[in-house]
Amino acid sequence: MDRIAIQGGAQLFGEIPISGAKNSAIKLMAASILTDQPLRLTNMPRLADTKFLGQLLRQFGITVTESDGPDGQQTLFDAKAITSTFAPYELVRQMRASFNVLGPLLARTGHARVSLPGGCTIGARPVDLHIDALSRLGASIELDEGYVSATAPKGLRGAEIVFPFVSVGATEHALLAAVLANGTTVLRNAAREPEIGDLARCLIAMGARIQGLDTDVLTIDGVTSLNGTDWSVIPDRIEMGSYAVAAAMAGGEVRLTHARADLIQALTDKMIQAGVEITPTDDGVIVRRDPARRLKAVDVTTEIYPGFATDLQAQFMALMTTAEGTSVIHETIFENRFMHAPELARLGADIAVHAGEARVNGVEVLHGAPVMATDLRASVSLVIAGLVAQGETTVGRVYHLDRGFERLEEKLGACGAQIRRIHGEDDSDGH
Ligand code: EPZ
Repeated sequence: MDRIAIQGGAQLFGEIPISGAKNSAIKLMAASILTDQPLRLTNMPRLADTKFLGQLLRQFGITVTESDGPDGQQTLFDAKAITSTFAPYELVRQMRASFNVLGPLLARTGHARVSLPGGCTIGARPVDLHIDALSRLGASIELDEGYVSATAPKGLRGAEIVFPFVSVGATEHALLAAVLANGTTVLRNAAREPEIGDLARCLIAMGARIQGLDTDVLTIDGVTSLNGTDWSVIPDRIEMGSYAVAAAMAGGEVRLTHARADLIQALTDKMIQAGVEITPTDDGVIVRRDPARRLKAVDVTTEIYPGFATDLQAQFMALMTTAEGTSVIHETIFENRFMHAPELARLGADIAVHAGEARVNGVEVLHGAPVMATDLRASVSLVIAGLVAQGETTVGRVYHLDRGFERLEEKLGACGAQIRRIHGEDDSDGH
């Protein structure tokens, strides 16, 4: 297993191009199931998660072709014929979002058998809302031996679905099924994350009829078939936010490009309060910080979009470890998303976690140490802390990082970070 080694202390100067959003790309990939015509996705990130979902789609008989096209990295999906509608546990457990192939398989073919994903390190993460939504759309659903078997031989039918609380995955899943349902579906209390908007806009380009984009009520008039299209994946706001925090942590001046400043405003507002200089540009932001001046502690509470993203909480916590004062961080989306706190403590951070709250007492310096990534966003928070920790920090279990950050060491290294990947070393001896 690979590790990332960082020698702390270098300021960052330069430009970082932001990739297409992982959490949009994997939903757009699932949309390819819905049409027998080719779907070409551009601005595609090349990540472990997109590779993995590509393998699952191939299992259904879909041709998946990655290439470098005139618009950069692209992937062509051709689902002319769906030859299997079975998604086994061995594949679904590796990436829980792959559960969301159930709805589109059902909508396209009338049947599917997909493994339940199980829990993960950031929480129990059940899929009850997904299953309820598909039942409301007329699917007959049976749960047996860890699998969901769903049928709708005469097709799905439109329905009103009121989500009891906001779920990104359940909104996306219901949308992917309702576009081919017979009649009108209304999704209330829908998620408004930008990746849902990206999916809805792509589906519209494929011929779907959806109203209420970027609001919490989506109205979908089902159509009998969808066409192929070309679609450019929205920039990754979490990658952008992570590099904005990295630049603020290390100090210096970094321009983030191919991105959208408006998508991370909840984060940049907090960074400005802490003392970071943020300048929006036409295609991103410039982040500046004088490392001689200590940042101030700021409190954050994670919320659904457009609030402060849970996927940026670990990174912001890393930033607060060396700020002046105490920062109180509330995690409201997932029940167990502070696994990075004890790892940051290994670098000298002073963090007390109690239930959904972490109190971060800023310290003057961090010291490099071996640490372990526990999930995707936690892993990048450890890299961020490593940028200022005195001496060397090595981050183990880098496969978490590879799920969602494209060429991270290359992007940070180009701005002056002393960062390298150590290939193939066993990382189980760290602690
Ligand atoms: C998406 O997960 C993202 N994943 C997550 O990013 C992100 O943290 C999360 O949304 C919140 O923004 C993808 O887009 C692939 P939810 P999702 O359904 O859809 C509970 C990353 O690092 N819930 O909005 O799974 C659930 O347990 C990942 O890229 C139910 O109880 O999130 C959670 O507490 C991590 N029943 C809350 O709702 C359900 O049926 C919100 O989850 C569904 C969800």
